[in-house]
Amino acid sequence: MALWGGRFSETGRQELTEFSESISFDKRLYKHDIMGSKAHVTMLAAQNIIPQSTADAIKVKLDEIRQMIDDGKMEFSAELEDIHMHIESTLIAALGDEGARLHSARSRNDQVALDIRLYLRDELESIIGGIRSFQKALVDLAEANKTVILPGFTHLQHAQVVLFAHHLLAYVEMLDRDAERLSDCRKRVNVMPLGSGALAGSTLPIDREFVCSQLNFERVTRNSMDAVADRDFAIETASALAIFGMHVSRLSEDIILWSSQEFGFIELADAFCTGSSLMPQKKNPDVAELSRGKTARLYGNLTALLTLCKGLPLTYNRDLQEDKIPLFDSLDTAHAILMVYPPMIATMSVRADRMREMASDPALMATDVAEKLVELGVPFRTAHHRVGSLVKYCRDNNKALDEVTLAEMQITIPEATAEFLQLFDPEVSVGKREITGGTGYKAVAKQLEFWQNKLR
Ligand code: ARG
Repeated sequence: MALWGGRFSETGRQELTEFSESISFDKRLYKHDIMGSKAHVTMLAAQNIIPQSTADAIKVKLDEIRQMIDDGKMEFSAELEDIHMHIESTLIAALGDEGARLHSARSRNDQVALDIRLYLRDELESIIGGIRSFQKALVDLAEANKTVILPGFTHLQHAQVVLFAHHLLAYVEMLDRDAERLSDCRKRVNVMPLGSGALAGSTLPIDREFVCSQLNFERVTRNSMDAVADRDFAIETASALAIFGMHVSRLSEDIILWSSQEFGFIELADAFCTGSSLMPQKKNPDVAELSRGKTARLYGNLTALLTLCKGLPLTYNRDLQEDKIPLFDSLDTAHAILMVYPPMIATMSVRADRMREMASDPALMATDVAEKLVELGVPFRTAHHRVGSLVKYCRDNNKALDEVTLAEMQITIPEATAEFLQLFDPEVSVGKREITGGTGYKAVAKQLEFWQNKLR
């Protein structure tokens, strides 16, 4: 008979048991469930709701149960539904009536809300740590290649030259906001729901603040109905992880392009690639592709959680049991990406020569010519038009921009001087972009220093 079986006369059918169980996916909450129960039972004794000796016996037994699960000795069965029931029944089997006192002033509704928050708090901490290592790998790669120039793209067309380090540090910024979003989200996770009961709290004289401080929460929830009904903190987590995935997916796309024969900007270490079972010459960027692919799951999980909650009347509905599958999958996916990505970044080789060769396309410096004209007092729109005419002249005469003579240049740009012919040098172009946030050598060195200090 299930622990809630008092009012039921018929025992359940096997299909229903299988249908209702969550133990297959919520067993991972066991440590946090036991942590929560220990704090709860300590409070119950301190408030004279149960005898101190009972609380002591329960805590000892809970530790044993934790050890038993650690050692893989707990038998999980769908009959006992979820992790909360498994632990409590084992306790009651061992301690009888004493064990049956644990659940005083508690419902599985506030218990599961507590467990998810406790678990998520730790997970967020570890994912944020993983993102910091990811950033560090990118910063180290940027530092090791800080004078390497490559073409920057817009519309996947050659746009202007940039430092490779600048390109990498753009992702460090994105990852930083991801980490910030997750730690901001953690503040809202870090609120203690126990004592909310099924929905209406308890008639027993519990001390919620005591449990809160035992479990190191920031504060207690203010409304028992909100506390058992809402999962916005899980949705927020899934959302922040979906955005993180989007960033990783974009970096992956860059890496996939860069490692193609057409670009040849980087080479990934063999360990992070696979060959083809058919084509002997292939070396595929699987880690980047799989990370891009796994981002789809992160989006799907967010959508599942949003949809799960949208039609639920207050307060708890059994639908909410389904929150764990997408939430855990997003956490696992983020962990999986964070395990493989930093070492892939750390071990890739940079083909600086190839990047520099592509960066020598003089068209990448066309904007520099227009800006030189602005320095000489020409309005930018006029300057833009003149350089556009020079580009057209070059195309019509089958010449590259840096192949025209000064006299030819002056046909479309009367202000041009010998100095203009030097502008098609990528190092010169990068060197002139020293504003804050720019891709100049000094500007990028400043960014690097900022991150090296922040990530130390
Ligand atoms: N396994 C359930 C869940 O994950 C625990 C709460 C069950 N509460 C209930 N009233 N049946 O949500």
